[in-house]
Amino acid sequence: MDPAWKAMHATREWGRWPSEEIVAALCRAWRPDARRNVRLLDLGCGAGAVTWFAAYEGWTVTGVDGSDEAVLRCRYRLAQDNLLDRATAETLDFTGPFPWADATFDGVIDNLSLCHNPLPAMISTLAEIRRVLKPGGLLVARAFGPGTARESLGDVGTVTFTTAVDWRRMLTDWTSLDICTAVVDRPLPIERLTITARCPGPVALSHPPADRHLVSV
Ligand SMILES: C[S@@+](CC[C@H](N)C(=O)[O-])C[C@H]1O[C@@H](n2cnc3c(N)ncnc32)[C@H](O)[C@@H]1O
Repeated sequence: MDPAWKAMHATREWGRWPSEEIVAALCRAWRPDARRNVRLLDLGCGAGAVTWFAAYEGWTVTGVDGSDEAVLRCRYRLAQDNLLDRATAETLDFTGPFPWADATFDGVIDNLSLCHNPLPAMISTLAEIRRVLKPGGLLVARAFGPGTARESLGDVGTVTFTTAVDWRRMLTDWTSLDICTAVVDRPLPIERLTITARCPGPVALSHPPADRHLVSV
């Protein structure tokens, strides 16, 4: 992981509130009464904005970040609201193999975390995300587009700018792919992509011939 993030988390609190795009995607996917047994992975949880929100709103969450300091901040926040029975935060560089079994999670959230890694690491991490998501599980990712002025992001180290075409290639056989782009000027432009997609898995033929069963892809 880029050491810029360890320096950042050691000196300031990064991000207290979850982005509205993540809130909307999660709340659209699961009604309040259907969340308790839904397991989410928050990749690059930072100080816990999304992990805290999701636990507070009823999901079961695993947050991971490469910075010990961020993980401590996230745990402290969870403890303050008595949410440690519903959420955990652990130190992990997510570009290595994941420590979870296949099909462990119903949803994976990447709020502007994968994009702070080189493209090959993003691609290999997406393969691990696919492995640990259940078939049909939800990925919600956010990333910076090439319309972003690099200097507007500050001292955040590595940034890989990606386009909707890049994400279509990286998630080529995923389903329900939805990519929204928004540009804000403050005062330099920042272009953000919000990507939602469903993990591919075994599919049933809609009218299977009598001598055939489920087909895996
Ligand atoms: C822009 S911050 C976003 C934090 C959080 N997702 C949020 O919504 O507030 C990016 C985070 O990703 C983490 N990160 C970046 N690359 C990482 C890696 N390879 N492994 C683990 N964490 C990483 C950083 O430490 C940082 O906390």
